[in-house]
Amino acid sequence: MKVLVTGGAGYIGTHTLLELLGCGHDVLVVDNYSNSSPIALQRVRKLAGRDFESLQIDIRDTEQLTEAMLEFQPQAVIHFAGLKAVGESVEQPLRYYSNNVDGSISLLLAMDKAAGHNFIFSSSATVYGAPQYLPYDEKHPVKAVNPYGSSKLMVEEILGDWCKSAPGTAAISLRYFNPVGAHTSGEIGEDPQGIPNNLMPCIAQTAVGRLPQLKVFGSDYDKRDGTGERDYIHVMDLARAHVAALDYLEQCNSFDAINIGTGKGLTVLELVKTFEQSSQQVIPLELVERRAGDLVSVYADASKASRLLNWSAELDVDAMCRDTWRWQSQNPQGYSGE
Ligand code: NAD
Ligand code: UD1
Repeated sequence: MKVLVTGGAGYIGTHTLLELLGCGHDVLVVDNYSNSSPIALQRVRKLAGRDFESLQIDIRDTEQLTEAMLEFQPQAVIHFAGLKAVGESVEQPLRYYSNNVDGSISLLLAMDKAAGHNFIFSSSATVYGAPQYLPYDEKHPVKAVNPYGSSKLMVEEILGDWCKSAPGTAAISLRYFNPVGAHTSGEIGEDPQGIPNNLMPCIAQTAVGRLPQLKVFGSDYDKRDGTGERDYIHVMDLARAHVAALDYLEQCNSFDAINIGTGKGLTVLELVKTFEQSSQQVIPLELVERRAGDLVSVYADASKASRLLNWSAELDVDAMCRDTWRWQSQNPQGYSGE
């Protein structure tokens, strides 16, 4: 298939590109590099042993996007491009709505003019809000609790309407739980700008000495060891889920949302302990106050993905930690160290 990938230079995009190229798909990457580096794409080319085109385009530029689509003639679009920092979205909501919502509308307008109507969208477990029950299945009510989450929900609704507007239009929203890990080569991985917000990059940067210690947000939750529980999923499993979703698009004639997680929760301390074992590094810890807005437990019912996509997670927490460590220790300053 010919697949246009927006945000392909980012963390999840690069890993998915490798999987797509490995399965024989042709790709065109569109990225404005606002949170990534073209070096990441060079590494994907090297690892895949195949070349592909990449264009520096902001997805809000409908005209340039349309031109690129008319030329490439994609049969499907995988849409990763977007901003993703929850705290920043509270401080700069309009920037988030512009990038994530206007950007997605611009992409769909370009597709209406120039491309096939098959679409995969990067959504998030954050669309569920606080759990009314666990594990979260796709029937769980949705509720945005910050502008980032609202932007994801708005795009899901827009995709639902878009699918109703034209026969043969299919859109799958993949609701990711907590992506972690890296490609086993250690050549590509997560490279957050500034101080990271998420747990795994904080652990990895502490291990490599970029951060002095890991702050554990809350140790008095009603959980086995008192720390927050999440459903961490290896980024290569997540990448495979996109390839499975591409196959499923053929049979899907409408909008559907599908959880992508392992179905298993892991606490902060459990993840740290596994990381220490895999990396043979000691992670200095400080137990601090709970982080505002944090939930105690978040994990997926991943059975719909297994049923519809014939996909389930295969890589365990050892692999998540080992691969993160390989990436971080080989690239202590991320791509900017090159
Ligand atoms: P990332 O920031 O590494 O990648 C996003 C890419 O999109 C970057 O390369 C960035 O330069 C590009 N981009 C952003 N705005 C753009 C624009 N207007 N035009 C063109 N390119 C633009 O993030 P990621 O972790 O790879 O996440 C990919 C997608 O998955 C995002 O939509 C994110 O919201 C979603 N998601 C991520 C997580 C996670 O924990 N990483 C969890 C749930 C959902
Ligand atoms: C965050 C986002 C969420 C997004 C998800 C996946 C927030 C409020 N939410 O949630 O929208 O969908 O990532 O990308 O940012 N922790 C520490 N110390 C740290 C960092 C985190 O103890 O330095 C703890 C947290 O309290 C939590 C767990 O680690 O219990 C995971 O945190 P994080 O990686 O930020 O993910 P989420 O909280 O799930």
